[in-house]
Amino acid sequence: MYVQSFEAQNFRNLAQAEFLPCPGVNVIFGENGQGKTNLIEALWLFTGCRSFRGADNTELLTHGQSTARLALTFCSNAREQTASLALTQKKRLLHLNGFAEPTPRRMLGVFPAVAFTPATLSLAQGGPGERRRFIDVALSMLTPGYAVRLSKYLKALAQRNALLRQAAPSPEMLEVWDAALAQSAAALTNARLRWLAQLTPLAQEFYAGISAAREVLRLRFAPLGEGETAPGAEVYLAALRRARPTDQRCRMTTIGPHRDDLVLTLDEKPLRIFGSQGQQRSAALALKLAEATVLRAATAEQPIALLDDVLSELDACRQRDLLRYLEGWQVFLTCCEPSHTLHGQAGKVFLMAGGKSTAHITKTL
Ligand SMILES: Nc1ncnc2c1ncn2[C@@H]1O[C@H](COP(=O)(O)OP(=O)(O)OP(=O)(O)O)[C@@H](O)[C@H]1O
Ligand SMILES: [Mg+2]
Repeated sequence: MYVQSFEAQNFRNLAQAEFLPCPGVNVIFGENGQGKTNLIEALWLFTGCRSFRGADNTELLTHGQSTARLALTFCSNAREQTASLALTQKKRLLHLNGFAEPTPRRMLGVFPAVAFTPATLSLAQGGPGERRRFIDVALSMLTPGYAVRLSKYLKALAQRNALLRQAAPSPEMLEVWDAALAQSAAALTNARLRWLAQLTPLAQEFYAGISAAREVLRLRFAPLGEGETAPGAEVYLAALRRARPTDQRCRMTTIGPHRDDLVLTLDEKPLRIFGSQGQQRSAALALKLAEATVLRAATAEQPIALLDDVLSELDACRQRDLLRYLEGWQVFLTCCEPSHTLHGQAGKVFLMAGGKSTAHITKTL
C-alpha cells in the first residue's frame, strides 16, 4: 500500500497544503515549528486511531477555524482508493471511496501504519500506561474488533468506578458491572497474550541484532499479577469480587487490563530501572520493529512507516538498521536537516516552510 496524494485544509498550521509523495522514502525537512509533525499526525489519523499526540479536535483545527479537511488517495488492493476526514470541534466524519462511514475506526486495518516518534523511543523508560497504549494501538490496527472490545471495557470500567465513588454502592449493580467487565477483560487479555507470543521472539531477535547480542531482552506480561496463562472471564469475575473491599476503599477498580504492565528486562534486570539510555532506546526500537513485522505479516497490504524526528535520536548504526529494515516500505520521515545518508536513500525530499499558519510543502529534489 502507498499514499499517492494528500491534501489538508485548516489542519493546525496546514491552512492549505498539497503533497505528492513517492512510493519509497519521503524526507520532509524544515526548521522547528514549521508543521512537519502536523503532516505526520494528519497522515496517522487515516489509520483510524486517535492522534499519537493525544490531541482532540479542538487542538487539530487551525486557530479560529471551525472545520478541517484532510483528503488522501492511496493505492491498496491493487486499486486507487480515496479517504477524507472532516473534523469539527466535536466530530470526525469519514468518507471512504465516496461513501460516508459511521466511524473513523472503519479505517483500522484499511490503512495500516507504524509510527516511530520520540515518544515511542521512550517506551522502555515510560510508565505502564505508555506500554499498554503501545499494545492497544498495535492490536487495534491488527484486529479492529479489539478496538471495539477495548472501548466496551473502558465504558464498563467508567460505570463501575462511578458506582464505587458512591457512598454505598449497590452490590447488585456492582455484580452487573463485574460481569460485563470480566467478559471484556478476558477477551482483551487473551488478545494481548496471543499478540505478545508473536512479538516477543521478534523483539528479542531485533534487540540482539541492534546490541550485537550483548544482553538478552525479555518481555514479561503477567495479567492479574499471575503467570502468563490466559485467564477466562470466570477468573476475572472471581478476582473482581475478591478486589471489591479494596476497590470500595480506593473508590476505583484496582485490577484488570487497565492496570497490567509489559515488563522489560535485560539479563533479568528491570530495564526501566537499570537500563542505560541507549539500552532502553534499543529495546524500544526492537519492540517497534517487531510490531511492524507482525503487522506486515498479518495484513495483505504493506503498511506505511511514519518516522517523526526519530533519526536524530538514534546513533548512526541504529539509523542504518532502521532504514535497512524499512527498505521496500513507503516511508515518511521528518528531520530538521537531511543528512548525506538520507539524501542517498530518499526518493523525494520536501521542504516544509512558511511557519505559523501558512505552512507549505515544496519538493526540492
Ligand atoms: N491548532 C493550530 N492552529 C494553528 N497552528 C497550530 C495549531 N497547532 C499547532 N500549530 C502550529 O504548528 C506549528 C508546530 O508544528 P509541528 O509540531 O508540526 O512543527 P515541526 O515542524 O514538527 O517542528 P519540530 O521540528 O520542532 O518538531 C507551530 O508553529 C504551532 O504554533
Ligand atoms: Mg516535530
